[in-house]
Amino acid sequence: MAVSIQVENAVKEFTLRYHRNLKDLTVAKIRGQQTTDSFRAVDDVSFTLEQGDTLGLMGLNGSGKSTLLKLVNGTMRPDSGSVKTRGRIAGLIATGAGFHPQLTGRENIYLNAAILGLSERETNRHFDEIVEFADIGKFLETPVGHYSSGMYARLGFSVAVHVDCDIFLADEVLAVGDKPFKRKCMQKMQEIRESGRTIVYVSHAAGSVRKMCNRVIVLEKGVKAFDGDVDEGIRFLKYGNDEDQPDEVDNLDADDDNLGADI
Ligand SMILES: Nc1ncnc2c1ncn2[C@@H]1O[C@H](COP(=O)(O)OP(=O)(O)OP(=O)(O)O)[C@@H](O)[C@H]1O
Ligand SMILES: [Mg+2]
Repeated sequence: MAVSIQVENAVKEFTLRYHRNLKDLTVAKIRGQQTTDSFRAVDDVSFTLEQGDTLGLMGLNGSGKSTLLKLVNGTMRPDSGSVKTRGRIAGLIATGAGFHPQLTGRENIYLNAAILGLSERETNRHFDEIVEFADIGKFLETPVGHYSSGMYARLGFSVAVHVDCDIFLADEVLAVGDKPFKRKCMQKMQEIRESGRTIVYVSHAAGSVRKMCNRVIVLEKGVKAFDGDVDEGIRFLKYGNDEDQPDEVDNLDADDDNLGADI
């Protein structure tokens, strides 16, 4: 099997600045107060995915999942370490990314598709499917700036899944969709998985990760705290390394397997 994504000792550091204007900054400096602080959002993370692997990336808010995804899709570069990928990358890593609020849904499909690397011919070929999947009706001809967040997500996801790619990245894409749309998205993602593409799926919903993924990585404050089996990863996320955790992970979140509660 070919290696699809190789992340080696990746580090991404951010600097926090505590003062927003020069006056405050000067006063703080004179007083000898700390004015900046840096921390590692992604801290020495390594993993390798083969083509066709489906990884669930989990962890609490702020643990570095989106940042790691941005390193993988090349939006950000690691400060040290390396991130290598093979083939075309598509997906949805932030709702509204690649959309212009003053352009209509129709125009934005072309814009967004171009950003994801589709030629105009390819977009023309997929256009009807994209529109049908997004199912936003007459709003297709209105500026997306007036869309609800669910409609934004529909359009973005719809374009992303119609791009031919080798690696598909999805960051909490289903969070704002309604139940019928979530179901449709899950089906589409299953198709993407079955077609042998590599998937990195960020989600807080255990049930959907269980459906989609064959491996889980849990991040804790930027550090890879768990890497392995899906059920064990979900258990780790809920209970850490606690001794008194229940044996049966399936009983923990029966609700999660119900589509509505879950994805
Ligand atoms: N551009 C940036 N500048 C400074 N700090 C940032 C930047 N981007 C992210 N961070 C910080 O890095 C940390 C990790 O953020 P990230 O968005 O990767 O978390 P996450 O795991 O995706 O969280 P969530 O579950 O809430 O989506 C957070 O503390 C965040 O504030
Ligand atoms: Mg995030």
